[in-house]
Amino acid sequence: MSLKAVVCGCGAYLPEQVLTNHDLAKKVDTSDEWIRERTGIRERHVAADGEKTSDLAAHAARQALDAAGYAPDDIDLIIVATTTPDLTFPSTAAIVQAKLGVREGAAFDIQAVCTGFIYALSTAEKFLTSGQHKRALVIGAETFSRILDWTDRATCVLFGDGAGAFVLEAQEEADAGKRGVINSYLRCDGRLVDLLYVDGGVSSTQSTGHVRMQGNKVFREAVMRISQAMEWVAADAGIDVRAIDWFVPHQANERIIKGVVKKLDLATDQVISTIAGQGNTSAASIPLAYHQGVSDGRIKKDDLVLLEGMGGGLTWGAALLRA
Ligand code: ACO
Repeated sequence: MSLKAVVCGCGAYLPEQVLTNHDLAKKVDTSDEWIRERTGIRERHVAADGEKTSDLAAHAARQALDAAGYAPDDIDLIIVATTTPDLTFPSTAAIVQAKLGVREGAAFDIQAVCTGFIYALSTAEKFLTSGQHKRALVIGAETFSRILDWTDRATCVLFGDGAGAFVLEAQEEADAGKRGVINSYLRCDGRLVDLLYVDGGVSSTQSTGHVRMQGNKVFREAVMRISQAMEWVAADAGIDVRAIDWFVPHQANERIIKGVVKKLDLATDQVISTIAGQGNTSAASIPLAYHQGVSDGRIKKDDLVLLEGMGGGLTWGAALLRA
């Protein structure tokens, strides 16, 4: 008996408030033109006062449950990928569990910054295919606006808030058919912590801190590491990376995505991009983009989809699945 972890529903949530590049140009010395040319971003969503990461996560999770046709009680595992938890403890996943009314199973957070969703998906897949759990909510949720230095034009223009969620279910291989997570690849190089980090935390400053980034150095690392992860995850599964139907990248920068597409000889119209309207929502960006592809009818059942992420750590990784 062999099990596969199948995505049987997805959901998304973006806060109502929209912050355009023009709005930002009134706060810091920047321009719509500079931001669009360097990143592809036009606007991003920002959580309202009092709206927490767990609220965004719960909205996306409810939508994913509806899409999958399941009730909260059908879930026995919740993993939230986030860098912006509601509290230092307990986990945001525990708070989401209560908000959804899930009463059984395990709940925990994963912290791998912008690669968080890939780490969470890979972890959930292992819990489900081991037979230990039956059905998981895998959520990427962030309120990055709360850790931005709104006077630092080099970082505050890049990020946005949001959440995306998958319902992932353990299914017998015979029932799953071609569907399910096929392979994943997770990496970290902690020697590169200084390239992208938050300058505060519980055991160092006892404060939250703000995002600090050497953007051009991160940029230089990104295309090479992401492409290598994507090639590996496909080749290890015996699949040519060019055979994928859809590329769902972490939405950090349009130029990074284009660089990867060029390096791997993919087609531009295979890319699901949400960066223009959402910016970089860190761990939420991959499930948000996946949900976009599903809801506009591009990603269909049995399609071969390649996801990738890269973020602070540096962490990076990729996952291959059939929708
Ligand atoms: N508006 C106007 N000018 C700006 C802005 C801004 N918002 N931000 C920086 N500048 C200026 C700088 O001060 C600098 O000016 P100077 O030449 O007078 O010193 C100039 O623009 C060039 O700065 P660079 O940092 O070299 O600009 P670059 O072309 O590298 O673009 C960017 C910056 C967009 C951050 C790019 O490096 C990038 O996208 N890096 C990837 C980092 C990233 O996406 N991180 C997110 C998390 S990690 C991940 O998800 C992959």
